[in-house]
Amino acid sequence: MAFYLTPPDPSSVHDCSIHISGAKNSLLPIMFSTLLIKEKTVIKNVPLIKDLYGSLDILDFLGIESSLENDELHLRNSGIRNKEIGEIFTNKTRYSTLLLGTLGHLFGTAKVAFPGGCRFGGKRPIDIHLDALKNFGATISESKDFVSITSVEKSETPYKLRFPSVGATLQCILFCVLGRGTFIIQNCAKEPEISDLINFLNKCGARIAGQGTGELIIQSVEELTSFTWHLIPDRIETISYAIVAALLECNITLHPVNWAHIQLPIEYLERMGVPYFYEKNTLTVLGRQVKELKPIEIETSPYPGFPTDLQALIATLCLKAKGTSQIREKVFQNRYLYIIELKKAGARITQYNQETIFIDYSVDNMKETAMLCKDIRGGMACVLAALICKGKSLIKNEDQIYRGYTNLIDNLAKLGCIIESI
Ligand code: EPZ
Repeated sequence: MAFYLTPPDPSSVHDCSIHISGAKNSLLPIMFSTLLIKEKTVIKNVPLIKDLYGSLDILDFLGIESSLENDELHLRNSGIRNKEIGEIFTNKTRYSTLLLGTLGHLFGTAKVAFPGGCRFGGKRPIDIHLDALKNFGATISESKDFVSITSVEKSETPYKLRFPSVGATLQCILFCVLGRGTFIIQNCAKEPEISDLINFLNKCGARIAGQGTGELIIQSVEELTSFTWHLIPDRIETISYAIVAALLECNITLHPVNWAHIQLPIEYLERMGVPYFYEKNTLTVLGRQVKELKPIEIETSPYPGFPTDLQALIATLCLKAKGTSQIREKVFQNRYLYIIELKKAGARITQYNQETIFIDYSVDNMKETAMLCKDIRGGMACVLAALICKGKSLIKNEDQIYRGYTNLIDNLAKLGCIIESI
């Protein structure tokens, strides 16, 4: 799958409003948590992304019935019928790893193929997940393709993550939320999407305290009963379109937006010279007032730091800044696969090492080219780069982008871009 993208002339770019979907990285953990919840769960403001459908395939295989009405997802747990899941399913999303904790608790034993998901330049191990499960009493064995878990008696030994891994924090929550005992997890990730899961589970009857503090205390409960949940807005999608406004120099109104979740990144954009105003859950980015963008120095870190998921996107904005910007990726090993694609279009980016890149002003040098999407955010960076290329660029393998963004083509067309799917 591919499409040609011709950006609008400055004179024909349109201001517009864009609806922000529910957060992808809230949706997936909440979907997998329904394996632990009796009866029917309703999730609202669901992003219609490819990872949703991949996760529905997994839940269907396990015995969860689902129906989707617009952006409202109904999940009914009428009994889980499988505890072994192969790579045909786990390849669909990295969060299939969470099945270890959920199925491991439910059945006392489970077998899950190693996960799929975005493959960045480096590895994406699951050692912290497995170490945490072992700490809480599970027995883990690994073969070439599978991880097996056996959990008979849980241990209440407090566990400190060696790194505040989002996935491993979620794994601990899903493994410990049901049953008996009190479990303490330290050096947890504090991402808003984790708090969204915790708030949802507490509404279902869970007893989890400490969200956002880095230390969680989970008092296991006997059962969880269903609840209707409205996902938080996707903070990464929000800032992605804020960057579009700055690149195209148009005004984009984004709603709904949670200010606390986007305050730090939007203040970086303001420092670069992108004005905005925020009121009543709505962010308006004043791209028309952008004059000259200033270079920036950014280091990604776990929340509340600068999000790693915005690294590729802010790097593309730096192509328009007059001077040399520097980005250090401190969360993932070498999350820079997209750079070779942007350089094909004329981007002046130098990768110093696995962690650090330098970006120079490149708008004068950007020209139409074909770019390959290799992961969700790297793919979106290719689209953003195409917005500052003269002529018609080709975006290839755009399915990667649809794993994390809904209505991309419609939104680009609203802005005045010419899109030709092939
Ligand atoms: C989640 O991935 C998100 N994915 C990622 O978003 C996001 O980039 C990441 O958190 C960090 O915020 C989903 O929510 C589906 P981690 P996750 O465990 O849980 C290392 C997107 O574009 N690590 O916090 O996999 C790991 O290699 C996606 O929406 C271990 O070494 O991220 C990485 O360097 C991409 N061992 C670092 O920790 C482990 O057992 C952070 O990973 C686990 C992680």
